[in-house]
Parts: sequence; C-alpha cells; structure tokens
Amino acid sequence: MIKKIALISLFVFSVTGVFSQPKTLDQKVDSVLSLMTLQEKIGQLNQYTDDGAATGPVTVDDKKATQIRNGEVGSLLNCKGVERTRSWQEIAMESRMKIPLLFGQDVIHGYKTTFPIPLAESCSWDLKAIELAARVAATEASASGIQWTFAPMVDIARDPRWGRVMEGAGEDTYLGSLIAAAQVKGFQGNELSDVNSVMACAKHFAAYGAAIGGRDYNSVDISDHTLWQVYLPPFKAAVDAGVATFMTSFNTINGIPSTGNKYLLRDVLKGKWGFKGFVVSDWGSIGEMINHGVAKNGSDAALLAITAGCDMDMESRDYKNHLAQLVKDKKVPVSLIDDAVRRILRKKFELGLFDDPYRYCNAERQQKELFNPEHDKATRQVAEKSIVLLKNENNLLPLSKDVKTIAFIGPLVKSLKQNKGFWDVDVPGVDSTFIVSQWQGLKNKVGKHTKLLYAKGCDIEGDSKAGFAEAVAVAKKADVVILSIGEKRDMSGEAKSRSNIDIPGVQEELEKTLLATGKPVVVLINAGRPLVFNYTADHASAILYTWWLGNQAGNAIADVLFGDYNPSAKLTMTFPRSVGQIPIYYNHLNTGRPATSDKDKNYRSSYLDLSIYPKYEFGYGLSYTTFKYSNLKLSSKEMKPDSSIEVSATITNTGKYDGEEIVQLYLRDLVASLSRPVEELKDFKKIFLKAGESKTIHFTIDKDKLSFYNHDLQWVAEPGKFDLMIGASSRDIRLKDSFELAK
Ligand code: NOJ
Repeated sequence: MIKKIALISLFVFSVTGVFSQPKTLDQKVDSVLSLMTLQEKIGQLNQYTDDGAATGPVTVDDKKATQIRNGEVGSLLNCKGVERTRSWQEIAMESRMKIPLLFGQDVIHGYKTTFPIPLAESCSWDLKAIELAARVAATEASASGIQWTFAPMVDIARDPRWGRVMEGAGEDTYLGSLIAAAQVKGFQGNELSDVNSVMACAKHFAAYGAAIGGRDYNSVDISDHTLWQVYLPPFKAAVDAGVATFMTSFNTINGIPSTGNKYLLRDVLKGKWGFKGFVVSDWGSIGEMINHGVAKNGSDAALLAITAGCDMDMESRDYKNHLAQLVKDKKVPVSLIDDAVRRILRKKFELGLFDDPYRYCNAERQQKELFNPEHDKATRQVAEKSIVLLKNENNLLPLSKDVKTIAFIGPLVKSLKQNKGFWDVDVPGVDSTFIVSQWQGLKNKVGKHTKLLYAKGCDIEGDSKAGFAEAVAVAKKADVVILSIGEKRDMSGEAKSRSNIDIPGVQEELEKTLLATGKPVVVLINAGRPLVFNYTADHASAILYTWWLGNQAGNAIADVLFGDYNPSAKLTMTFPRSVGQIPIYYNHLNTGRPATSDKDKNYRSSYLDLSIYPKYEFGYGLSYTTFKYSNLKLSSKEMKPDSSIEVSATITNTGKYDGEEIVQLYLRDLVASLSRPVEELKDFKKIFLKAGESKTIHFTIDKDKLSFYNHDLQWVAEPGKFDLMIGASSRDIRLKDSFELAK
C-alpha cells in the first residue's frame, strides 16, 4: 500500500509539478509530449497481447516487462482482471515518463455476463436494450481492469457464409447505424472519465463484411457508391456518437489495404468526419501489407500505415522496429508521430489514467460488478427480445404450463458454454456454473406436474445415428417434443467462414425421425449466422431461432416457449434457401429484367433451378398475437424541398396476447440519376399493444430520408416520385402510398 501511494504521489507530482500546472486537455497532452524522447513516443504507438493470451497469430516476445519499463509499450490487449492489469501497470509506472498503459479487450457481447451475440441483439430492433447490454459489459469490464473494448463491429454483412456476421447488426445500413450509435453510447456512457465507461472501437474500417465469397480476410472489390451508401454510414454514425477509437480492417478495398488507406483514414475519417480519437490496426495488419503485396518489408509497411493515419500498431511490431529509422531517414516527419501520440495520450487523460493509473484496479468493485444480480436480469431480458419466432403452426406455441410430458431432445439441450457464443470472455476466477443451460431453464419454468424427458439424439457434427432410437422412444412418451439443434458456437466468428451453411451433421435427420412419431416438434435453432434449413422450415411444427443468447439462454428460451415473453424479434439478415442465392439482401436494385414471380423466368433476372425469394426475408418475425395495419395518412402528397411530410398509421393487436410489433417504413425512389433499391428501410417503431388495443404511430419523412450518394458522391435528394411502404417485414408490406418531392 505504501509503495502504491508513493508511486501515485510521485506520479501526481510529475504531472502537476514538472508539467507546470497545465490547464486544457491539449496543454496537458502537449506538456507530456514535449518531455518524451522519440523512442518513448513510438512506444505509445505499440500494442502487445498479454503473455499466453492470443486472439491472433502470436509473435513470441519474452521481453515485455523490460519494454514496458523502457516506455516502449502503450497498450496491452487480452490482459484482464484487476490483479494482472495492476501488475503490468506497476511496471509501466517504473518507466521514466510513467505513462499509464491502456488495457484493451474484445468485449463483444458481454464480459462475465454474456449477452446474446450482436446479430441476435440486432433482431430486437430495441436500441435501449442494445445500449443496456453494452453498458453492463462496460461496467463489468472496467471493474476488471479494462478501459477499452474492440467493439462495436459495425460492418454491414450480406453474406452468411462469412463467420463474422455474428458480430454485427446484419445487412441494413439504416438500422446498423442506429445500433452502432446505441452501442457506442452504452460502452462509453456519459463520459470516458466515469470509472464504469470503456472506450468503444468502431471496426473494421472498412467494408470487411464485403469479403469476396464470404471468406474471412478476403479482398473486397466494390464501387465507391456502394462503399459510401452501404458500408460507411455506420462508421459515420459511430463518429457522431463520439466513439473514441477506430480499428482498421484486414482486407484490401479495390487493391488498397485498409491499414494503409490514406484516403479512408486521413482524408475521410480524420479529415471530412473530424474524428479526434485514435486508430488502431487490426492484429498484425500493418505487417500483412507485405502479404498484400503493397509493401516490400516491415519498414515499407510502417511507412504506409503511419502515413495513412493508423496510430497504433496491434502486434505487428513494425512501428517499434522501423519508425525511428524512418524518422531519421526523413521519410516520416515527427509531426506524424506526434499527432498519433497526442491522440492516444488524450484518451489516457480522458479516462483519468493520468490521475490514477490504478483506478480500474479495485478488487472490491470487481467482485461486486462481476456478480451483480441485476446483470443477469438484463441479459435475460435482452435474450428474450432477441429470439425470433419463425414458424408457429396451429399456434402450438406458447406451450401450456400444464403439459404433462415434454421430451427435450438434442445435442445442445444440456450444454453450458455453447450458449455463450463465439466471443465469450474467459474471466479469471469465473467458471461455467453461472450459465443456465436450456435444460435448466425448462426445469426452472415447468411446474411439479410436468415431466421432463431427455435424450441427446446425436452430436452437432458427425454422422452417427446411434442415439436416434433412444430419442424416438423418449419422444413417443411425450405430449410435445422440443428439439435443440444448430451449429457449435465456434462455427461462426473470426476465421469461421463456411461454404455449406446447412444445419451440420445428422441433426435434421434426427428431426425427421422425431416428426415421424406424429408428435408436435418445436425446433430451437442455435447459430451464429443465418443457416439453410429447408426441411425444418417446411416440416417442423414451430421454430424459434435462438442464435447464441448468453448465460441466461435457458431461462430466456423457457420464457418464450411458455409465453411469459411474447416473441417480438425480427430478422436483420435475409435467410437464403440455398447458398446459391448468396449474396442475397432485401434492398437490391430492380435490374432491367426483374422477375415478378418464380414462374417468370423468360429472359428474367432469376435462376433456372432456384427461387428468387429468400426463405425468410429481412424484417420477418412472428408473434403469438397478430397485428392489423390500417389508416395510412400522409400530411401531403407533395414535399417541398427542405420541408417534411408527416405519416401516420394505426396498428391494432387483433390476437389474444399482449405483444410488441416492429412496424417498418420503407421507401423507394422511383426515378433517379442512379438506379435505386426496390425498397430501403428508413424508419421503424417498436410498439407494445395489449390484446385488442390500437395505437396510431407517426413518422416524419424529411429530405435526409430521401437522399443518397449520387455518382459524384454528393448526398442528394432528387425531385420525383417516391413509394412509401409500411409493413411487418420487407416483403409483408401492409400499407402503401406515394408522394412527390418537388423541385
Ligand atoms: C482480430 C479481429 O479481427 C479483431 O476484431 C479483434 O479485435 C482483434 N483480433 C483483437 O483480438
């Protein structure tokens, strides 16, 4: 303790004494900078992973402690827990400048409390719930020594083969932008200086989700229009929400690696958008510019990256190894290094690390926040909101709590960790016992008089049918079968692209044998991406798409199965009926020869052997109740430039259950200088209606909603006619009208 106080007072003295009472943040930053050697400056730009903890290919480095003591490291990632972060910070405090380390971590869908994977959460269309998930994650992570999460991933994704679709908000730019802002708010709270806030990181800049063929890390080849119209807006939304950091992407865009893309990083992000935070490379992506064939060696790669505006080097060591020489050789002006260091120091100041480098290392707070029961309540609520009801034949669901016998079958019924999804964090000192399995969730829900039977049936992968007979025998004894199948949690995520996105193994065959018993079968599909499951879609009695829901998965699923929560989620990615349809997304262009139906194949834009329609469209999702849409009104059929139109509609809950509906508003610009999508989401309202209740909802259409990037990349609204559609999904349009934007 004495040692700690001595260190802190020494530190405070250095900041307030030696740096002569600076006033503004910029002055404080500059006063630190003015005392730093070039080597120390470059040190701030260098980030290492902690020993033995890797989320990428590790370069062995046994001199971390010495380097930190020498001021050669600015940040560590994958280092967590108050004890461990404190021990590294103590070493940083032995360095000449005593500049605190930043601790970064992939806190993607929760820290100790695991929330649904981001793609699942996005299906809630509930910005408050999404913000809450990020807030809880920030509270836990910051209590555990961390100040920086590498989230949100705001990459638009149109290809479910790409494993990282699980980490984003789906395919839509408008919704994705709102979600990006909500996540930034949740992680960063009101102020970075609040001890329960962490810096967010908008990643992966840019267009990582457009990897050709859905193969992770693959190249991207897109038009400027698509880049600006589809992929960049969520990043801009993150900047507008005050995001503290950005991460570059691994991919090239039209031949230029993002990590060395001066146009994107310096001209757009730091220039046009005025981003004041700092940019970190993705893991090793500076060095990977050699593999991309745009740099001869590490020195070339470092030159490209620092010139482009990448401030911090995650794990490639090219800044550490080459920047000093590049400065000596006058290839890199010190002003570039200073700019990067300033950006990083500014955040360290804002986080309060210069006031107290150990402010995130409070063991008591860690204990309290990691085991805060409110956090379990929060994840259970968000999980309920993320479950999508895809099918409910004869209103089989919700199940009555008086069912006599339920057979709960499948390889995922009793698993614990699987429920957590890909980016769960291994928190020191925390085991898996706090995870509520699907089996436990059902047991918690049903009364004494309901008998629960179990059989595994088969594995997730492999072709053994040895467990089928037992599963069938169990099913025969039950009134209803619940079958839990899907992917393994690590079949989606980073480097987890799949060319075949069917439900793996013999799981659908197991389902076939269970359906043959004549019992009603409710299927739970656990996955990190849209899968192809035509057999299930066509034959199961009911389907809940449960994604990966986090540590309260079991309770949340049981809440929905028995109607304690009426499902309200709607898909944020299109579900194809075959990989042959990919990429498939709702806001496509019309083409010159659009097919009007699957019979319309004569010189039409269609497939000979496949439908043009997805299995489940963007915006689709059922409820236990039904909603009627009526009474569409527009305040005017003509919109004057710089004015707006008010739109209203009445929604009525026509079913037996109270429930929420996500009412979606789409627009189509009928004639423009560029071909525009057949429909684009421009607004939505999530409303709660009691059974029998009606509500009138209101939307405002302003010029921004009519605007797009034209050929010259100007954001314009062109006069002419627009179709306005209000619906329960992108295909289930219930109300339609049109209006004119006047010249
Ligand atoms: C590589 C991933 O692409 C990125 O998203 C992640 O934040 C870093 N590794 C650090 O783990």
